Amino acid sequence: MIDIHSHILPGVDDGAEDMEETVLMAQAAVEEGIHTLIATPHHANGKYDNPMEKVERSVREVNRVLEQQNIPLTILPGQEIRLYSDLPEDLHQQVARTLHSSRYILIEFPSREIPKQTDELFHELRVMGLVPVIAHPERNMEIAQDPMKLQRIIQQGALSQVTTHSLNGLFGKSIQKLSLDMCKQHLVHFVSSDAHNMSHRAFGLRQAYAFIGNTLGDQQVRYYQANAARLIANEDISVLQPDWRKRAWWRFW
Ligand SMILES: [Fe+2]
Repeated sequence: MIDIHSHILPGVDDGAEDMEETVLMAQAAVEEGIHTLIATPHHANGKYDNPMEKVERSVREVNRVLEQQNIPLTILPGQEIRLYSDLPEDLHQQVARTLHSSRYILIEFPSREIPKQTDELFHELRVMGLVPVIAHPERNMEIAQDPMKLQRIIQQGALSQVTTHSLNGLFGKSIQKLSLDMCKQHLVHFVSSDAHNMSHRAFGLRQAYAFIGNTLGDQQVRYYQANAARLIANEDISVLQPDWRKRAWWRFW
């Protein structure tokens, strides 16, 4: 399996504290059946800045340690980027970059709202040939209250990634149900761990895929797994028509 969103790099953000924890996380990933992981430390979120050069240095170091310890896991470089007005310029300067140098860029919204400049900045990204992937929209308060807002952004060409722990129930029943409904109505294109540590937020990818398989069917699992592979190969992602209104209609009746 491939995991496109994780905080496994040591000491760069609120993820793994040191190399020891990085190695423990890597072992846990392999035990679940993960062979490739994109490291996506926070960038420009007001607390952490992780320019790409620093990320790439850390990824090289971690891959070297994993190889020394015979842990069969490949780490690829990425960032989880908070939307900010200088992002297009920083992309030109290569301070900010996409996931594994693909066309896909992982964007984090603040937890309460959808930033006002989202439409404008996403438009600029598209002009640059990039595809924004919205990290864990189910944990954004404005989207959770009105998922049609996410649907509208997706219809303009963005993709979205739901977090395994949301599907697995770590953040409560309502986020779990919302996440599953989003998957069902095609508002989700990737399932990923956003793993931060070994204590309460490890991977849970196998469990999340099992949950999706049991509720929505194995075809849906294969769709997410294929999309993760396509992302790291920088290939087109197949997008199904999102249909949140249909769900609302059925609920109403
Ligand atoms: Fe994250």
